[in-house]
Amino acid sequence: MKGIILAGGSGTRLRPLTRVTSKQLLPIYNKPMIFYPLETLMRAGIKEILIIVAPDHAGDFLKLLGSGKEFGCKFTYEIQDKPEGLPQAFVIGENFIGKDNVTLILGDNLYEDDFTEAIRTFKSGGRVFAKKVKDPERFGVVEFDSNNHAISIEEKPEHPKSEFAVTGLYIYDNSVIQKTKALVPSSRGEYEITDLNNVYLKEGTLDVAFVSGKWLDTGTFESLHEAIVFARDRELASHN
Ligand code: DAU
Repeated sequence: MKGIILAGGSGTRLRPLTRVTSKQLLPIYNKPMIFYPLETLMRAGIKEILIIVAPDHAGDFLKLLGSGKEFGCKFTYEIQDKPEGLPQAFVIGENFIGKDNVTLILGDNLYEDDFTEAIRTFKSGGRVFAKKVKDPERFGVVEFDSNNHAISIEEKPEHPKSEFAVTGLYIYDNSVIQKTKALVPSSRGEYEITDLNNVYLKEGTLDVAFVSGKWLDTGTFESLHEAIVFARDRELASHN
């Protein structure tokens, strides 16, 4: 299993914090944001990690993270010239992925869960992780039937069919590269991870699991603040 951290984008929603730096380098209590998704992948046993960054801040990521040796990993870097959508990670990362399966995590997502088992037991298809949220319209939203089987996923729907957001960690088999290449941009001009998940859903190979611990997407000032408080509480608890 290879890992990809997607840490590009322009972070416009967090300006002026992101005017001179990347969102994923902002401090979350005592660590830069990207350390959290990195730790999530490392805890799950993934050691070969591709870090995809925007052109403006590529040097800063390299300076911060280096070769990966310090972390017991091997890091590779690629630049995403324009933020044209999350699935682009699989085209940019095609050579890196090779013939392996891949776990993608968004550079601004914080998880408490340990994904070791989810990754160890993964065989083929896709596996995504849902979490009940108060503001589903901000996310990809998954609808379940009465047997808890996923029946639809919609990206940022005005009228969400459930309160379950698809969170920012995705496990896919190697067919993700070809599936991504067949996607077309959405009405907002981006390749959508939700469209990719729907390809797996239609094929009957998408497994929707649940996040049991805390999950935070730090895309807004509110959620950024919440993440900092959470990271602080956890850090202090670990010393007691
Ligand atoms: O956080 C989970 C959500 O992430 C999912 O529920 C949604 O289905 C999914 O579309 C995504 O929604 P966001 O609104 O959070 O996506 P956003 O455009 O903010 O991108 C998420 C992160 O990925 C962000 O830190 C920037 C980075 N990014 C984004 C795009 C579009 C890139 O590095 N490259 C890109 O092309």
